[in-house]
Amino acid sequence: MRAAMITALTGPDAVEVRERPEPVPGPDQVLVDVEHAGVTFPDVLQTRGRYQRRPDLPFTPGWEVSGVVRADAAGFRAGDRVAALPTTGGLAETVAVDGSMVFPLPDGVPSDRAAALPLNYLTAHFALVRRARLEAGERVLVHGAAGGLGAAACQLAAASGARVVAVVSTPEKAEVARAAGAHDVVPVDGFRDEVRRLTGGRGVDVVVDPVGGDRFPDSLRSLAREGRLLVLGFTGGEIPTVKVSRLLLTNTTVMGVASAELWADEPDLPGRQWRDLVPLIRSGAIAPPIGRVLPLQDAAAAIRELDERRAAGRVLVRVR
Ligand SMILES: NC(=O)c1ccc[n+]([C@@H]2O[C@H](COP(=O)([O-])OP(=O)(O)OC[C@H]3O[C@@H](n4cnc5c(N)ncnc54)[C@H](OP(=O)(O)O)[C@@H]3O)[C@@H](O)[C@H]2O)c1
Repeated sequence: MRAAMITALTGPDAVEVRERPEPVPGPDQVLVDVEHAGVTFPDVLQTRGRYQRRPDLPFTPGWEVSGVVRADAAGFRAGDRVAALPTTGGLAETVAVDGSMVFPLPDGVPSDRAAALPLNYLTAHFALVRRARLEAGERVLVHGAAGGLGAAACQLAAASGARVVAVVSTPEKAEVARAAGAHDVVPVDGFRDEVRRLTGGRGVDVVVDPVGGDRFPDSLRSLAREGRLLVLGFTGGEIPTVKVSRLLLTNTTVMGVASAELWADEPDLPGRQWRDLVPLIRSGAIAPPIGRVLPLQDAAAAIRELDERRAAGRVLVRVR
């Protein structure tokens, strides 16, 4: 089969498409013939060895896919259309995935959108529902709102009855955030003043932060009393630090969110989360915004879109 492979830890340019043997599924694994694969920021980090998991070189990245089940396994039947979360190996014609990370697709969900669902929507669900315990009527600020995780958080928060303020860096990304359900969209520069204005000085209840970096202090200052800031990632590069005295007087909570680590401890959780999401997928309340779709041959260019901060909506690789 053909697969994209990280051949050196020097960035997306070292991603090559090569022939390699098909994976052999383990006892509880499902073999999926991939139609589309989602490109995510962890793929970018892996091209430089900056992600917490560092497989031996060369290896195939790729967290999430859509496709068709090859043979009966783990409760799935040959021919079932699925979305799946292999966490590695997805940028390939075929991938073996643990049965607990394979999800049946409702009828009518196109393969491109399906590939953009698993990682970011399950993570947004974990962040907003289980960690932040978001309630209808609360206000949520989302950084990187035209990115994969950001757009998923906008849609899920809006579908949960929250009022969503999106933070983005370009007008094109503002359009994507609006289409993903953001009620208000503000630019990165000066977002704190805009949040204050939009909330009548009160602030937001929850900040979804996949970016980190130098905007972190203003994110904390954008929170209302008893606000929760969800730490999801650091696309901005810098890992911020916080003086805990800043949390005390406003009863602020800063909480870490690491979905893959939790799924490893609770393998039945992703399936339960997926069942929560299915009605929203069916109704169209969650439908990932799609940006560029490139052929597998151009996997390096697809990863570069995220690395160079250009992606507006999901970048996907079309495999077949
Ligand atoms: N904790 C978890 O469980 C979990 C799960 C999945 C992903 N993540 C993390 O979440 C983060 C986002 O992932 P993603 O796949 O959504 O990425 P993405 O689609 O590339 O979106 C990231 C967003 O970050 C913003 N950004 C700010 N500075 C940037 C820079 N220097 N380079 C690139 N982007 C920059 C961009 O928005 P603007 O240009 O509008 O600022 C961009 O849209 C990553 O750190 C990833 O590792 C965490």
